[in-house]
Amino acid sequence: MKHIFLYGPSGSGKSTIGKQLANDLRLPFVDSDQIIEINAGMSIPEIVKADGMPKVRDLETEALKQIIKNGKDSIVALGGGALLRDENRTLVEQNGKVLLLKAEISTLMNRLDKDPNKRPLLAGDLEAKLKAYLDGRAWHYASFPLQVSVDNESVEAISKQAQVLAGRHHLSAMGEYDVFVGSVSNVPNLQNPIIVTDENVAKYHLEKIQNLFNAKAVVVPAGEEHKNLETVSHLWKAFLENGLDRKSTVIALGGGVIGDMTGFAAATYMRGIDWIGIPATLLSMVDASLGGKTGFDLPEGKNLIGSFHPPKLVIADPSLLLTLTERELRSGMAEVVKHGIISAPDLFAMCQRGMDWVKANLEEVVKHAMAVKIKVIEEDPYEKGFRAALNLGHTVGHAVELVSKFELRHGEAIAIGTAAEARYAARVGLASQSTVEAIESTLSVLGLPVQIPNEMPREKIIQAMRVDKKKNAKSIRFALPVEIGKVELVNVDDLESVLE
Ligand SMILES: NC(=O)c1ccc[n+]([C@@H]2O[C@H](COP(=O)([O-])OP(=O)(O)OC[C@H]3O[C@@H](n4cnc5c(N)ncnc54)[C@H](O)[C@@H]3O)[C@@H](O)[C@H]2O)c1
Repeated sequence: MKHIFLYGPSGSGKSTIGKQLANDLRLPFVDSDQIIEINAGMSIPEIVKADGMPKVRDLETEALKQIIKNGKDSIVALGGGALLRDENRTLVEQNGKVLLLKAEISTLMNRLDKDPNKRPLLAGDLEAKLKAYLDGRAWHYASFPLQVSVDNESVEAISKQAQVLAGRHHLSAMGEYDVFVGSVSNVPNLQNPIIVTDENVAKYHLEKIQNLFNAKAVVVPAGEEHKNLETVSHLWKAFLENGLDRKSTVIALGGGVIGDMTGFAAATYMRGIDWIGIPATLLSMVDASLGGKTGFDLPEGKNLIGSFHPPKLVIADPSLLLTLTERELRSGMAEVVKHGIISAPDLFAMCQRGMDWVKANLEEVVKHAMAVKIKVIEEDPYEKGFRAALNLGHTVGHAVELVSKFELRHGEAIAIGTAAEARYAARVGLASQSTVEAIESTLSVLGLPVQIPNEMPREKIIQAMRVDKKKNAKSIRFALPVEIGKVELVNVDDLESVLE
């Protein structure tokens, strides 16, 4: 929806990383220096020699205007001082995100030593010139909020970090689709779109999204108890009544309940039509909207009917979360903690800072947590192996949620499940007591429960676990924490022992 501009000193790898990022995001790559050289008909050192640096800056402004006028999203590598000019900075910040590539002087020296001729500002004594050049620009480079460190990292890893910071991903493991974190704007032109949402979300956000997409809308009752065949059937009929055909697109605006049901209704309507996810809860942003699992519940258990049908686009706008109740936001944090435990100690550390920090840094939390889910589903889209790690806390959690008759929010049940499964992992020697304590205290600091309610009959929980769709004949496979950042899949026969 907008350009990503890579900026930083000469030698920081803007072109190399830019090409990788463009490839990962399936976007064109543009080198602004190349455009300058094509437009001028000579190389940048030749321009500097003939007309001086101010001429290069003028040509830079022209090149940027040309790239932006082109209209298509792209990855743009900028010259090392291109944004020193205010006009250029305003231009790029209005038309995309700037990622600053940060490097130690030794990294830059290594790279520039191999390529001394192309950098006119650094000709001569490289080390002294480079130091003066970086000192002179330190304040300028430090003023860009999105920074990626490029020292000792592979190009692939830097590209991944850049995607997280920019809040933009392209998924290709099951279908091809883009995921954006940011405000809903510049939406695609769709044929006969219809928004599916629930009564709570409709109150706050439907009008704006409806106007943006110029879409019709169907509003259903809110809550897990309505994630059933009756509501799905209501959606199919609404699609028919509104004249949706195979080329139409459905937009799911809401939490995981709306996303799962809308995705399923889209998967099955006329043998499958496109859908777009606009998740509106934290849980749906960082989990449910990604990965293509759709479905609904039966009275016997959650998600027993479903299909894999990924969306065509996901737009996660953290500002939608501002209308969530405190309880819903906390509940969503259970999945964020889970993602941290699975593979992101840095995300887990963010969770340890508590709700006030989380609320003040929602976009950062969403970006990092989405990245974990994306990594997992890209590795194993159809849950043949590692994707099952996402079930951490869910085997006990789903059962507790069901037995509570949905009195517990999904995330609260998952928090209870995560803590119970962690304690079990410690009892069987898989995790250390300090890992369990870290998990329990992090969930608690976020205001989430960690104990199965005393009054909840254990046999009902075990019965519910057996019905859960993740059972197999002899035993149930659990994703258990080993340490923060690592889980292991373990088959368990004796379910009583998990709840001790
Ligand atoms: N498909 C998957 O991979 C996947 C993964 C995890 C969970 N899930 C499913 O997700 C569901 C839980 O999702 P959820 O927690 O988002 O629940 P939800 O969809 O029921 O939303 C929670 C509540 O918040 C309200 N709400 C939603 N967005 C709001 C907003 N922006 N402002 C104010 N109120 C808002 C809703 O009306 C609802 O009352 C479960 O059914 C679970 O099975 C699916």
